[in-house]
Amino acid sequence: MKMYDIILKKREGGSLSTEEIEYFVKGVTDGSIPEYQTSALLMAILWRGMSSEETYVLTKAMKYSGDVVDLSGIKGIKVDKHSTGGVGDKTTLIVAPLAAACGVKVAKMSGRGLGFTGGTVDKMESIPGFRTALEPEEFFKQVSEVGMSVIGQTAHVAPADKKLYALRDVTATVDNLSLITSSIMSKKLACGSDAIVLDVKCGDGAFMKNEEMAAKLSNMMCEIGRADGKKTVAVITDMNQPLGNAVGNSLEVIEAIEVLKGRGPKDIEELSLKLAGIMIYIGGQASSAEEGEKKAAEALTSGRALEVFGRFVSAQGGNPEIVNDYKLFPQHSIEKKICAKADGYVAEIKAMCIGLASQHSGAGRATKEDEIDLSAGIYLEKKVGAAVKTGELLATVYGNDESKVSAAAAEIEKAFVITNNKPETPVLIKRIIGLQ
Ligand code: URA
Repeated sequence: MKMYDIILKKREGGSLSTEEIEYFVKGVTDGSIPEYQTSALLMAILWRGMSSEETYVLTKAMKYSGDVVDLSGIKGIKVDKHSTGGVGDKTTLIVAPLAAACGVKVAKMSGRGLGFTGGTVDKMESIPGFRTALEPEEFFKQVSEVGMSVIGQTAHVAPADKKLYALRDVTATVDNLSLITSSIMSKKLACGSDAIVLDVKCGDGAFMKNEEMAAKLSNMMCEIGRADGKKTVAVITDMNQPLGNAVGNSLEVIEAIEVLKGRGPKDIEELSLKLAGIMIYIGGQASSAEEGEKKAAEALTSGRALEVFGRFVSAQGGNPEIVNDYKLFPQHSIEKKICAKADGYVAEIKAMCIGLASQHSGAGRATKEDEIDLSAGIYLEKKVGAAVKTGELLATVYGNDESKVSAAAAEIEKAFVITNNKPETPVLIKRIIGLQ
């Protein structure tokens, strides 16, 4: 088989056979296919597309390009949760303890943030002492005993995706449904859970800019999950404005704790209960997603989910006192306030600008090698729909570097759009796919 012929076939709009796709993924993984040929095929796929069958074969080949985690030693139904990436999205830190408090086992492998979106691993590392690298036995034992664990995804899980994603990122070939689906689902399927809940973000601060594209991606990912024998449900949610009020690592962990104490922003509480309800249902702990949501709400109000969170932090070496004393988190030394320049209503808070502002403040990385400031970030005082007066506080930037904080503040100025007319309240949860 020759890579040249595979590129030519896809360039002319042909369908690749199982053997051709497996040859490609194997060659990418072991480095025998040069990057110029891989890039050429990625571009041909982007233009010509892939059928459902080809996408499934690609996903499976990528899944088996490295380790496939065996969670069968953990009793109970293991349910994974994945977000396609957003700004201020700290739901894993709320949803996992809610689901675990209701009997679901959550064995989660997460990534780091890059660009304008944050990663759960970085957020967890803002807790003093918290370890995101556990030995497999330690990870399995913790999930069995505490009900949940969140660790960093190792380089051995879906290594083909690591190489392909790095190339897609620099060859303008990220935004293709088959390539996104195979990238996300190969990792999820390799992580070994029995069922998966996907939070598919849509809007200005997400890969999918509109609901129609988000629905196509959701359907494709659910189809592939089911073909691999996993119950898979996708929830399409709004990412036109950031989720909750806090953006940045320690700020987001604090906000997640506040939600678990019943005092967090209502948007993130609503979404967390919805996602946890579905996890509880597909995890076999409720007879419907509605009943699952009621159970999740009870775990929240009774404080059981907060208790699970404390045990999870402690089990991974983190200081559990952070739940009561937020001063134990890394501290910022500088803050800058951004105030309204006119009377009116907040009509938009562009999630992309806030994500970039967070990155500029030091909370995010522009390249994988960048060091991050775990205390840095943004707190939004107003959300879309709020009435504001001139001079009223819209947001605060936190950090430790004057020039970074100023760069973030300039980006936040661009994010807020204030109008005379009250805008419609944005719908957070747009659609659920695959629940039947
Ligand atoms: N997230 C991924 O892991 N892969 C993609 O291709 C897009 C988002």
